[in-house]
Amino acid sequence: MLTNKTFLITGIADKNSLAMYVAKEVIKQGGRVICTGLGVSPHHQNLSEKATTFLNKNFQDFKLAVTEELGETSVEILDVTLDDNMASFAQNLSEKGVELHGWLHAIAMDKTIRNKEVKPLLEVTKVEFCDTMDVSAFSLIRLTHFLLKYGVLQIGASICSLSYIAAAKVTFHPYRNMSIAKAALERITIELADELGRSHDIRVNALRFSTYMGSKAGNATLTEDDLATADRMSPLGNAFPLDLAHEVVHLFRPDLKITGEIRHVDGGYHITG
Ligand SMILES: NC(=O)c1ccc[n+]([C@@H]2O[C@H](COP(=O)([O-])OP(=O)(O)OC[C@H]3O[C@@H](n4cnc5c(N)ncnc54)[C@H](O)[C@@H]3O)[C@@H](O)[C@H]2O)c1
Repeated sequence: MLTNKTFLITGIADKNSLAMYVAKEVIKQGGRVICTGLGVSPHHQNLSEKATTFLNKNFQDFKLAVTEELGETSVEILDVTLDDNMASFAQNLSEKGVELHGWLHAIAMDKTIRNKEVKPLLEVTKVEFCDTMDVSAFSLIRLTHFLLKYGVLQIGASICSLSYIAAAKVTFHPYRNMSIAKAALERITIELADELGRSHDIRVNALRFSTYMGSKAGNATLTEDDLATADRMSPLGNAFPLDLAHEVVHLFRPDLKITGEIRHVDGGYHITG
C-alpha cells in the first residue's frame, strides 16, 4: 500500500510512543521512514548542564528504541523550537535527494503539567503558554514550511497530526493549557488543508486518540483511574495505539480525497460525557 513511499515520523521518545506504532505500521505496509528525536543539535545555544543531560539521554533512548523496534532506520535530531534546526534538517534531506510523501506530527510539550497535576489557567505564565503553543501546535506549520521550502515534501503528500478530545471539551483529568494548544493544532490542520490542498495537492488531517498511559506524555498526565473512566465512557472501550497507526497509514495512502478532517480513533469516547 505504501511501497516506494517515504514518511517522516516525529515524536518518538521510546518504544511506547504513539509515533513508534505508526512507524512500524508504515514499514509493515511497505513504506520507508525517517525518524526524528529530540536531542542536542549544533543550533542549540547556552544549554544548561541539566538540559544537555536531558536532551542527550532523550536522543540515546530514542535511537535505541528505533534500532530495536525498526532495525536499520534513518534517525535525525530535531527540536521544533529552533528554526535553524528545522531548516538545516530539511536542507540536509534535500541534499540527500529525499522525497517525502507525508509526515506525522506527534509532538507535544506542556510544562504546566507536573506529577499528574496541572496549573490553573490563571497561573499560567506567558512563557509557559507560548512554549506549549510553539512546540505542540505552531510546529505543524513551521516544519511543513521548511519541508516545502527545500522541496522535500512532495506534491500530493499527506500530513497527519495527533490531537485529543480536550481540544473541544473540558476533560475530567488535568489538561487545561494543553487543551488550548490542541485546539490551535486542529484549527491549523483545517487552515493548512485549505492552503496546501490548493497549492500543492497536499492533505492535512488530525486524529483525536483515546487516553493512553503507555507513553511518557500520557504517563505525565494520566492515572490508571483516568484510563478506566475513559474506557467506561467509550462505547467501544479505549482504542489501542495500533488502531491509531492503522488510521494514520490509511490517511497516508496516496490519492485519497480526505483532507481537513478531525478524526476520532477513540472507541466513541467523544460522543459521551
Ligand atoms: N498519550 C495520550 O493519551 C495521547 C492521546 C491523544 C493524543 N496524544 C498526542 O500524541 C502525540 C504523541 O504523544 P505520546 O503519547 O506518544 O507521547 P510521547 O511522550 O511518546 O511523545 C511526545 C513527543 O514529543 C516530543 N517533543 C517534545 N518537545 C519537542 C521539541 N521541542 N521538538 C521535537 N520533539 C519534541 C518528545 O520528545 C516526544 O517524542 C502528542 O501530540 C500527544 O499530545 C497523546
